[in-house]
Amino acid sequence: MTLSRSELRTAAERFGTPLYVYDAAELDAALARVRSAFGPARVFYAVKANPNLTLLGRMRAAGVGFECVSAGEIARAEHVGASGDTLLVNGPAKSAQEYAAGARLGATFIVDRVEEVGLLPPRSKALVRVNPALDVSTHDHLATGAASSKFGVTPEQVPQVLGALREAGHDARGLHVHIGSAIRNAGDFSAAFARLTALHLHTGDLDVLDVGGGWGVDADLPGIAREAHAAAATFSAQLWVEPGRYLVARAGTLLTRVVGTKHTGRNFVLTDAGMTELLRPMLYGAQHPVTALWDGEVQDRWDVAGPACESGDLLARGVRLPAPTPGDLLALGEAGAYGASMSSNYLTRPRPAEALWDGAAWALIRRRETPQDVWAAELAPF
Ligand SMILES: Cc1ncc(COP(=O)(O)O)c(C=O)c1O
Repeated sequence: MTLSRSELRTAAERFGTPLYVYDAAELDAALARVRSAFGPARVFYAVKANPNLTLLGRMRAAGVGFECVSAGEIARAEHVGASGDTLLVNGPAKSAQEYAAGARLGATFIVDRVEEVGLLPPRSKALVRVNPALDVSTHDHLATGAASSKFGVTPEQVPQVLGALREAGHDARGLHVHIGSAIRNAGDFSAAFARLTALHLHTGDLDVLDVGGGWGVDADLPGIAREAHAAAATFSAQLWVEPGRYLVARAGTLLTRVVGTKHTGRNFVLTDAGMTELLRPMLYGAQHPVTALWDGEVQDRWDVAGPACESGDLLARGVRLPAPTPGDLLALGEAGAYGASMSSNYLTRPRPAEALWDGAAWALIRRRETPQDVWAAELAPF
């Protein structure tokens, strides 16, 4: 957590809870670390990690491109001025609307299956996504480069797909790989890059090698970058990267207030945020650092439970905290990625506000929804 307790308390007072807060200095620092490690590589931010327009606008101003996987994400990227070489359109089942929007904006498409060659708009720029068939050190649902995962084409299919793209008049610019998210073992990246470089024998040189994202917040970026550059050099290609989590996770904190406590077989601290605001613990067993913003002697272990009528609605298990009282504030760290973007209106819970600290002041960058916002698209035909 990069923001001070007093800044966090001020934000909670001013904007209410649950609340997502972001630290602009850490957003800038994360991008600087990526640039310092990867040097001349082109950076495309994976919008899915956090699509807030203010964050996208800051990245756009810093020269970052965008990787989009839906018409909505493409519209957001366009809204902040991305087009042409700053836009990638990805996804295993792109819609006609997504092909049309990508073509209109001159985006590069990431081809995910053989049949897609016949679906691309005329004269498209394309990369071929390779599934390297690797078992990767992350949760099953976050692994995208396993033989059993739905992504990409097999290494054996790559020459055929590149050939078919060229024959159809497309600009087959190179290869793409993304093996998963929150990857713990740097060796997984080395293994994926080795599978790619083995393909040089069949593809010859290429313009672009896009090695995706997937770096955990503690990843050894210089180490990954060295190997990624070496892989790109094999193809005499320009290196592209697509980090999501790394660029925004640490900058974000979810603030939640204690509603009460309960002691059954375990000690529960009940909070006003839960699975609707931070789904990752429930979805992937993800662990977020939990910090109490009240004083006291740390004693018991507590499970942090949200307000939903779901047993799985837990934000953390067994964390050591001073005794909580209603109204106390808890901060869940590393919540800038896949926090707000995976939030939902389940239980007609309005999504929280989002606020950005620029080093001197707080700015509201998304207002809190109302119940009326949640049902605004519903019709009453009878
Ligand atoms: C193709 C692709 N690129 C980049 C990313 C970003 O991953 P991460 O946020 O782990 O860096 C994803 C996330 O799943 C992805 O599917």
